[in-house]
Amino acid sequence: MTGILITFEGIEKCGKTTQAKLLYEYLKEKGIPCILVHEPGGTKIGEEIRKILLDKENTKMTPKTELFLYLAARAQLLTEVIFPSLQEGKIIICDRFSDSTLAYQGGGRNLELEKINQINKYATDKLKPNLTILIDIPVSISQERIKKEKKDRLEKENEEFHKRVRDTYLFLAKRAPKRIKIFEGNKSIEDLHLEIRTKVIQFLTQKGVI
Ligand code: TMP
Repeated sequence: MTGILITFEGIEKCGKTTQAKLLYEYLKEKGIPCILVHEPGGTKIGEEIRKILLDKENTKMTPKTELFLYLAARAQLLTEVIFPSLQEGKIIICDRFSDSTLAYQGGGRNLELEKINQINKYATDKLKPNLTILIDIPVSISQERIKKEKKDRLEKENEEFHKRVRDTYLFLAKRAPKRIKIFEGNKSIEDLHLEIRTKVIQFLTQKGVI
């Protein structure tokens, strides 16, 4: 496969969706073939699964059910969109991917990281991102930003949950420093975009893509 998979990760309201979109628009403007997708979702079946996952009425969902639903949405997105796009040599910008599962279902829900890794490998046919942009903000700022909106099922989790998610992200970044690059997210949208853009261009140049 010749394409490149770039993922965006971080806790709630860290700004990753905005940044993923800005990067996508920038690359597109430069004439670089790329697509923008998000998880869970990005396919008809994936969007149905997303509704179930984020529905705050689903208070009885077990951590394992949650895990398998995220993996199901991912498997669908991979088959329908990501693998074909990689084969066409495109750059795929994905708003959340496997690290979200490790951080939320592993860190947040306390499911075993190694177990998640194993079944996620099966769900993804072992596909790993080439580069991961982790936007890090303190949980207090994330909570402040969430307060202003209607909360979904995961956003409703307490501060301790979100702290574990953040800590797990930072642990994952430490474990894979070559792939996961941390960006301090508490700054202007434009400044953060420029930082991310610089890193991505450097990465794509090294890879011989541009
Ligand atoms: P979003 O808010 O970035 O659209 O993501 C939806 C929610 O799903 C968010 O709270 C993070 C959560 N999530 C997981 O818990 N595990 C996963 O594997 C993914 C992809 C997302």
